[in-house]
Amino acid sequence: MTDSFKKLRGLTGMHDVLPEHSAQWEELEAIIRQWLASYGYLNMRTPILEFTRLFERGIGEVTDIVEKEMYSFTDKLSGEHLTLRPEFTAGLVRAAIEHNLLYERPQRIYSIGPVFRRERPQRGRYRQFHQVDVEAFGFSGPDVDAEMIIMLDRLWQQLKLTDMRLEINSLGQLNERQEHRRALIAYLEKHKEILDEDAKRRMYTNPLRVLDTKNPNLQEMADGAPKLFDFLGDESLKHYEGVCERLDEVGIAYTLNPRMVRGLDYYNLTVFEWITDKLGAQGTVCGGGRYDGLFELLGGKPTPGVGFAIGLERLLELYRSPIKTPAECDVYMVYQHDDGQKQAMVLAEALRDAKFRVIVHAGPKSLRAQFRRADNSGAAVAVILGETELANQKASVKWLRSEDTQTQGEQQKLVPFSQLVQELQSRI
Ligand code: HAM
Repeated sequence: MTDSFKKLRGLTGMHDVLPEHSAQWEELEAIIRQWLASYGYLNMRTPILEFTRLFERGIGEVTDIVEKEMYSFTDKLSGEHLTLRPEFTAGLVRAAIEHNLLYERPQRIYSIGPVFRRERPQRGRYRQFHQVDVEAFGFSGPDVDAEMIIMLDRLWQQLKLTDMRLEINSLGQLNERQEHRRALIAYLEKHKEILDEDAKRRMYTNPLRVLDTKNPNLQEMADGAPKLFDFLGDESLKHYEGVCERLDEVGIAYTLNPRMVRGLDYYNLTVFEWITDKLGAQGTVCGGGRYDGLFELLGGKPTPGVGFAIGLERLLELYRSPIKTPAECDVYMVYQHDDGQKQAMVLAEALRDAKFRVIVHAGPKSLRAQFRRADNSGAAVAVILGETELANQKASVKWLRSEDTQTQGEQQKLVPFSQLVQELQSRI
């Protein structure tokens, strides 16, 4: 077989969402959009493709994402270096600066869509996945950090997710991180002989990343390393306590995880993750934090920011509403001959004007085949245009679901064309 006749497949780690599952996605996304609106967040959409340097600068050159996981390429015509977004935050901040979005007021915004990371695929870890990304630009206080965590807690409750645990940490400010960095490098130098290649390379460029290692042999060393939290000054501690007090006030439990550094470099002060034990190794459903330096880093005016992203695939695995194949339509039009089909198309448009979802049969024309399709479509009624009906300018309306025939009292009825919309409106 030549290559051109071989069946083509999708890419590893990137998934098709078929109609029966798509209904679940849409249901969850509708809940999420309503939840975000209830906190005053507005939707914003940015391109999936950005200049590579946006992510190098924003996320940080010495991170797993930028070093190994981005889908980057050089545009053949322009020679520009481009990358499929591995996250939303950098692009949203870029757009906020470019369009002077904060000119009049701070902004609460969100975006939902696909992001791309070339990770090793496994359960809960994909190469194209979807995030609900939420950002608040222009607020510096701990109140907005706390509100974000509180709103997430509300979403978990609304979705009836138990078993979601909250870990928080503070990454302090630049000067505190620099002091910690010196102590950390000294500590890593003492343990140089056990470090792996990644750790050795990052030890001087980004030592905090070494603590983020996935290598089990380095866990003990990482556990014993100097903790950034112990280097925080009064202001940073006050911010951290400000978040904790507000969480205490509403009764949200959390644990301080002084080892949480997150996988992106733009964070300062508050960082947090919501984790579940129900998803195996990839249990982090949501992660976020404050990034007060990112606007300046990307060429904007100093502007504080805080946000988070939820992994939609992971959330969907926890929130599985029963799979129901959605009905394709309310009304299925069945007909005989070309004349019947033409009439069906005219009546269907009138029914759509009245907001009915209508399918006019296409394909094999035997009545048997048409009724089988009508049944499988999930429609409530079939509207039949046979020879006799056409001659009398009437349509037969047939109830397809047994529960409907019981309540409607009859299974089939002749209705003049002019009264069809009204008849169906009174009964569907
Ligand atoms: P992140 O922790 O890299 O943060 O990703 C957020 C969430 O995306 C994770 O908690 C997880 O649920 C999901 N996720 C990450 N990688 C994968 C994957 N390979 N497959 C499936 N799901 C995955 C960010 O992206 C930050 N931009 C969040 C943020 C917004 N911080 C401030 N504002």
